[in-house]
Amino acid sequence: MRRYLIAANWKMHGSLEMVHKFAESFDQGVDLGAEVVVFPPVVYLGALQGLTSKYVQVGVQDVGVASAGAHTGEIAASMVKDVGGSWVIVGHSERRADQLEGDDLVAQKFAAVIAAGLSPIVCVGETLAQRKAGDAFAVVSKQLKAIIDLCGVSALAKGAIAYEPLWAIGTGLTATPEQAGQMHASIRDLVAGLDQDVASSVRIIYGGSVNPENAGLLFAQEEVDGALVGGASLQAPSFAAIVAAT
Ligand code: 13P
Repeated sequence: MRRYLIAANWKMHGSLEMVHKFAESFDQGVDLGAEVVVFPPVVYLGALQGLTSKYVQVGVQDVGVASAGAHTGEIAASMVKDVGGSWVIVGHSERRADQLEGDDLVAQKFAAVIAAGLSPIVCVGETLAQRKAGDAFAVVSKQLKAIIDLCGVSALAKGAIAYEPLWAIGTGLTATPEQAGQMHASIRDLVAGLDQDVASSVRIIYGGSVNPENAGLLFAQEEVDGALVGGASLQAPSFAAIVAAT
């Protein structure tokens, strides 16, 4: 049985005040029935971690590839581990677009996260034009194959895969549960073709305009193992409602 993974990606939102408010009203120090991870902007990681219980894990939205050295502005995965983080998002489509991160760099970041003993969530997804052209799965499988080629298929089991169709991110336009379910099943088939055990254990979560209203229907899809939530994770009540929908 795969445990639901519900992740909050705050992107470049937040403040110390928000961190305090969120921790106070979201975390009651009880098991939430799902694995919960919050990804604040990295400067708030320590504050959030200091205010939350063991039931809320924290992570960062990106890391550098190097383990240390003269790389101004970068942080290493081992540093995230040092301060108590457990998860790292790699390959979010906003970084692929804004920072021009390609599949090879994303795979190297995935490897760096695994090497530090942390869990990566790798984001994959197609644009609307690619979906309309019938290329959605080809795009997603190319993104995943870059990771598998560099790190091996068993590395996938150490983290999670987030299917985030670009046209659904921040648009209010969610993939239908069937669209999400189909893509997740195709991803699982791809992995199963290489390793059946990894395919049955790896969590494939969905991201793109997840909210308390649509979360239950998405989670009802057998292949949807959780969510990577953007906008609706910024307020504790709506994020808590999404967790409760598992
Ligand atoms: P929204 O939930 O705001 O659409 O963002 C999704 C996302 O990009 C999570 O990583």
